[in-house]
Amino acid sequence: MQLSRLSLLVVSFIASVGAQSTFTPARPPAAPLAVKSPYLSTWLEFGSDGGDGGYLAGEWPVFWQNQVTGWAGMVRVDGHTYTWMGLPGTTTVNQTGFEYTSTKTIFTMNVLDKVEMNITFMSPITPTDLRRQSLVFSYLNVEVSSLDGSEHDVQVYADISAEWVSGDRSTTAQWDYGTTDNVAYHKVYRQTQLAFSEVNQQSEWGYWYWATDATDGMSYQSGQDVVVRGQFSSNGSLDDTSDTNFRAINDNWPVFGFSYDMGAVDDTPVSVLFSLGLTQDEAVQFQGASTYAPVPSLWKSYFDSELDALSFFHNDYEDSSTISGSFDSQVAKDSLAIGGDDYLVLTSLSARQAFGATQLAGTEDKMYLFLKEISSDGNMNTVDIIFPAYPIFLYSNPELLKLVMEPLYENQEAGKYPNSYAMHDMGSSYPNATGHSDGNDEMMPLEECGNMVIMTLAYALKASDADYLNTHYNLLKKWTTYLVDDALYPANQISTDDFAGSLANQTNLALKGMIGIQAMSVIANLTGHSDDAANYSSIAHDYISKWQTLAIAQNANPPHTTLSYGDDNSHGLLYNLYADAQLGLGLVPDSVYQMQSNFYPTVANKYGVPLDTRHTYTKSDWQCFSAAIASTDTRATFFKDLATWVNETPTSRPLTDLYDTITGK
Ligand SMILES: *[C@@H]1O[C@H](CO)[C@@H](O)[C@H](O)[C@H]1NC(C)=O
Ligand SMILES: *[C@@H]1O[C@H](CO)[C@@H](O)[C@H](O)[C@H]1NC(C)=O
Ligand SMILES: *[C@@H]1O[C@H](CO)[C@@H](O)[C@H](O)[C@H]1NC(C)=O
Ligand SMILES: *[C@@H]1O[C@H](CO)[C@@H](O)[C@H](O)[C@H]1NC(C)=O
Ligand SMILES: *[C@@H]1O[C@H](CO)[C@@H](O)[C@H](O)[C@H]1NC(C)=O
Ligand SMILES: *[C@@H]1O[C@H](CO)[C@@H](O)[C@H](O)[C@H]1NC(C)=O
Ligand SMILES: *[C@@H]1O[C@H](CO)[C@@H](O)[C@H](O)[C@H]1NC(C)=O
Repeated sequence: MQLSRLSLLVVSFIASVGAQSTFTPARPPAAPLAVKSPYLSTWLEFGSDGGDGGYLAGEWPVFWQNQVTGWAGMVRVDGHTYTWMGLPGTTTVNQTGFEYTSTKTIFTMNVLDKVEMNITFMSPITPTDLRRQSLVFSYLNVEVSSLDGSEHDVQVYADISAEWVSGDRSTTAQWDYGTTDNVAYHKVYRQTQLAFSEVNQQSEWGYWYWATDATDGMSYQSGQDVVVRGQFSSNGSLDDTSDTNFRAINDNWPVFGFSYDMGAVDDTPVSVLFSLGLTQDEAVQFQGASTYAPVPSLWKSYFDSELDALSFFHNDYEDSSTISGSFDSQVAKDSLAIGGDDYLVLTSLSARQAFGATQLAGTEDKMYLFLKEISSDGNMNTVDIIFPAYPIFLYSNPELLKLVMEPLYENQEAGKYPNSYAMHDMGSSYPNATGHSDGNDEMMPLEECGNMVIMTLAYALKASDADYLNTHYNLLKKWTTYLVDDALYPANQISTDDFAGSLANQTNLALKGMIGIQAMSVIANLTGHSDDAANYSSIAHDYISKWQTLAIAQNANPPHTTLSYGDDNSHGLLYNLYADAQLGLGLVPDSVYQMQSNFYPTVANKYGVPLDTRHTYTKSDWQCFSAAIASTDTRATFFKDLATWVNETPTSRPLTDLYDTITGK
């Protein structure tokens, strides 16, 4: 009942805004607007469960967890004011187009058939340029031109509210206005800094910068939302004043506005650029080889001050667009070649989200990539969350895979973890990488030992870095000992899919362990350990031949692997097989690949193949792993069902990896 009422509301809303928008390459559940780190993560909700169907004007952008991060945009055309972003209260423009790439989300707006606006949100992805990648900043570019051949008098306005600076709306914000290198900025922050703390997942420390070009047509103002926005809509410019009554975020809602007078606009596009970002001197705390201590944000190694970083970023738009544009093109070209438009929907929507879970920290001599397990429990550098991300790191820069494993190696090699298997994560609560010296982390022993060995070899092969394997050989061998003990008949335990419950003799988990042992054989070979190489290879081959008897429902029609040994009526995604192919191990016979590829389409629901027979839900990441090693036809089926789900799910949250294959929720 509730859903259909919502749907009706959405339909009538669309009708009321007039011209309908196009959505290319699909209508996502939510669109990334400024998504660059765990704390710079603002989205526009599209799905009917909370979103308005995908219109930038008429709905507030939100932090990933759903709280409003006030971000408003208005435009004045020939003396009349309209809203193009958020809900500041004036009549909305008409959205005619929506498009996204790996780094950009672009809206096209029409104002009375007089003026067109192209509004581009760009969160740069520069995987091989860590100086740029280290900046927790995002761009908003607004381009305007005349549509009807006449000149129009145009002013553009945009603001942020203090909601960006804390998850606690009753906390006191402070702010400041200034200019540097022809960049005008509002600096906004929590008056009482709470280092390394979060409220509602938002960061409680550091300084937010909201900036634009300090040119003649620019004016600024801070103050109460209705006052500042009212000034623009009645006047078309701001009065260059700062409100100095520092107060709670929700006390007469302070906002920080810029207005830009474009003058008489004809059919030559003119644009105004805004930058928005967060500077934190120290990004995380980390229990490495020495004492538990703060680690600086990596941008500190490249820039002398926050203002240097801001001014570099703001003045870098052209180069940054070129770099991001070539990343977009590379992803698009490679995606289309592998899986057509359906696959492009997934890759281009996932890219900012994957990088947006990460934070570069440390110094140029000792760098780390920290990763937050967003929207589950906030664990840090969770090994089985790095695992689904390892393909994008390998693809874009294998060094990033090394940097994200670095804290795990450093901590465990310093003897800070007591168990015989690989640690699950670097700390229970991002940004505190405390480690688990008591050994009481979430126990996923087979999963994480397999993941670490597999990803370590994947990095070393892609980067041709055998030294790395030598450096970590002893720990890798210890983990392999665990794999040898547990992989053939896995004890009752959870896998990465912990929400599905624990189970003994899990077919897919056993396979990960066996592939891990064979991966260790390759590692041993590459590092000159001939005896180990031969030993591990012979164990892995022995196990895999036994596994085929234990794990395959031979008499089923068509045959398939089971969820767990002997349970012939069960099945599941055999996604761990991906690593055998990715590493080129050739451990598992082709017949197993073919069998699974033939089987999956026979159990596909409307929105994909269920994770296993226990539930109707599935994982988008594991479907992609399964698709990657399937036949061309089966792969296309996986991608088509996933893209259909992206386009149709009522969910309005950022692209999830866990959803129901029947309802799409
Ligand atoms: C939006 O489109 C509707 C229907 O065409 C039109 O009546 C309205 O004036 C348009 N609004 C703007 C701001 O362009
Ligand atoms: C918007 O982008 C389209 C496609 O690139 C372009 O044709 C159009 O001129 C742009 N309009 C404005 C106002 O920049
Ligand atoms: C991280 O640790 C600090 C103490 O060093 C604490 O104040 C903060 O709340 C912790 N952060 C989280 C997210 O638990
Ligand atoms: C606009 O604001 C400026 C500065 O506050 C003021 O001088 C001017 O009279 C205002 N114009 C209008 C039309 O309100
Ligand atoms: C092979 O590896 C297993 C597991 O680590 C070990 O128990 C066994 O002693 C090894 N055998 C040889 C010949 O090295
Ligand atoms: C795992 O499978 C083996 C072989 O079928 C069986 O002997 C063993 O009891 C199973 N383990 C558990 C815990 O069910
Ligand atoms: C590694 O494998 C190659 C090819 O099988 C073999 O020729 C070489 O001797 C092996 N090296 C070691 C150290 O085992």
